[in-house]
Amino acid sequence: MSKEDKPTVLIVGAGLGGLMLGALLEKSGVPYTIFERSAAVKPLGSAMVLGPTLLPVFEQLGIYDELLAIGKYLPQTLTYKESLQPMPPLDLTPVEEFTGYGNYTVSRPMFYDLILKQVPPHKVQFGHRVLNITEEDNKAVVHLSNNTIFVGDIIVGADGAYSAVRQRMYEQLRVKGELPKADQEDLPFSCTCLVGQTGVLDPEKFPIVALPKCLFNSVHGQEKPFSWHTFNTAQGTICWMVLEHLSKKSSKAAMEQRFRDTNNSEWGDNPAQAMCNETRTFPLPLEGGKTGTLGDLYDATPKEYISKVMLEEKVFKTWHHRRFVLLGDGAVTAMHDAIALANLLYAMPTKTSSEITTVFEEYHKERYPAVMESYNNSKQLAKIFDTGIEGTIVNYLTTHMPTWLWRQVGTSSP
Ligand SMILES: Cc1cc2nc3c(=O)[nH]c(=O)nc-3n(C[C@H](O)[C@H](O)[C@H](O)COP(=O)(O)OP(=O)(O)OC[C@H]3O[C@@H](n4cnc5c(N)ncnc54)[C@H](O)[C@@H]3O)c2cc1C
Ligand SMILES: *[C@@H]1O[C@H](CO)[C@@H](O)[C@H](O)[C@H]1NC(C)=O
Ligand SMILES: *[C@@H]1O[C@H](CO)[C@@H](O)[C@H](O)[C@H]1NC(C)=O
Ligand SMILES: *[C@@H]1O[C@H](CO)[C@@H](O)[C@H](O)[C@H]1NC(C)=O
Ligand SMILES: *[C@@H]1O[C@H](CO)[C@@H](O)[C@H](O)[C@H]1NC(C)=O
Ligand SMILES: *[C@@H]1O[C@H](CO)[C@@H](O)[C@H](O)[C@H]1NC(C)=O
Ligand SMILES: *[C@@H]1O[C@H](CO)[C@@H](O)[C@H](O)[C@H]1NC(C)=O
Repeated sequence: MSKEDKPTVLIVGAGLGGLMLGALLEKSGVPYTIFERSAAVKPLGSAMVLGPTLLPVFEQLGIYDELLAIGKYLPQTLTYKESLQPMPPLDLTPVEEFTGYGNYTVSRPMFYDLILKQVPPHKVQFGHRVLNITEEDNKAVVHLSNNTIFVGDIIVGADGAYSAVRQRMYEQLRVKGELPKADQEDLPFSCTCLVGQTGVLDPEKFPIVALPKCLFNSVHGQEKPFSWHTFNTAQGTICWMVLEHLSKKSSKAAMEQRFRDTNNSEWGDNPAQAMCNETRTFPLPLEGGKTGTLGDLYDATPKEYISKVMLEEKVFKTWHHRRFVLLGDGAVTAMHDAIALANLLYAMPTKTSSEITTVFEEYHKERYPAVMESYNNSKQLAKIFDTGIEGTIVNYLTTHMPTWLWRQVGTSSP
């Protein structure tokens, strides 16, 4: 295949999905450009778990050893009540089955940097929001916020849960009456999540950071709709996340709040601080006979690296239209999608409209069942957690271990 026959790919969003696609296209010599609305990337987030099905791609990218060097082996997960009593033993077979155990924990900011380094800087256009996408003269066109257009063959929406690419694409389908009803509904929020990573901690005060392996600890609130989760990292830090599980009513209020605050799913400092204030007395197991509170972690985390994110649960049916295609949401899902799409684009014989449609259909056929299966499994898992635990928590946590959490940090089904 000559260079001219390869499609020019315009990727919207330099999140993990968009960058992973860029890194793979870079390796295979397919031309691409990434557009990212943020001027720079902030090292936000907690940790991710990478399992056996995702690890081979890092070998392919030549960064497997680097990845293992920043990661920490994760052999087990522990769950506690708020009293820090370990939970009654649960049947974790389903977790193991669909997480494939998730072997390595890596801090999200460090992982992000590693993937970003695989893409030459001039191929990521920071500070450019994509406002619209159109198709003209058999070309795909992105319309940028600086009133400039970029022309290519294919547009990939890797721009997150509130994807502008998806919204513009769905508008075009809705006008033609071709958008399924399920895709016309809003994203339901299932929880709000506070995430961050501490600086390097003193093992005297936080014995957990001295453990040779990673522990994924979860604590479930007593009579409060919260759960909180920690991972000790290879860098001697703790990655943490605090989830507030939303009811229908609080979900609606959170949604309204979000649209008042900003145009995206990240909230400003103030709501993050309020949630810190609300949760800082929540207790934490720290190993070595020590306990602490979430406040200890907040005090050890640079303020600007604490963020609050809305988590939504939905799998859209429509993934592509004309020359536009979407990458799934969820860190691990998005990366698997990127791998599938990169392989198909690389092998594409021509770049005609009909060939593009064929490739997108193939992509959907390959990925949709896998995404649905992991979504179904995590729903199933939520049910098991609910029925396995007696007491008051169940009343609050309708989705005990939220679908999102497992899809984000745990899923490694291909
Ligand atoms: C602040 C934050 C912290 C997180 N922390 C964790 C964590 O600790 N652990 C975990 O497992 N998961 C975490 N997640 C969730 C998970 O990483 C994301 O869901 C996952 O990265 C999905 O990847 P994505 O590439 O599809 O979307 P995103 O990561 O949401 O990336 C989308 C990118 O597109 C950009 N963008 C959006 N709209 C436009 C536009 N119109 N034009 C140009 N660019 C646009 C955004 O700025 C963003 O950089 C976090 C998410 C966020 C936002
Ligand atoms: C990772 O997990 C898989 C499946 O659970 C297991 O077969 C494999 O041995 C583990 N790898 C390491 C390095 O522990
Ligand atoms: C995007 O472009 C289409 C086609 O030109 C147009 O109909 C639509 O109004 C535009 N949408 C926005 C939000 O600009
Ligand atoms: C808009 O941004 C693009 C991408 O960086 C750049 O090539 C173009 O020159 C910019 N246009 C204007 C008018 O600033
Ligand atoms: C939301 O986006 C619109 C259009 O892009 C912009 O005019 C408005 O100022 C934004 N609002 C906030 C709060 O950022
Ligand atoms: C959080 O608590 C601190 C200390 O009590 C206070 O100064 C701050 O205003 C509070 N922030 C919010 C958003 O509630
Ligand atoms: C997921 O669940 C839905 C409805 O419960 C079912 O129709 C579908 O076949 C399931 N899909 C997979 C891949 O498990």
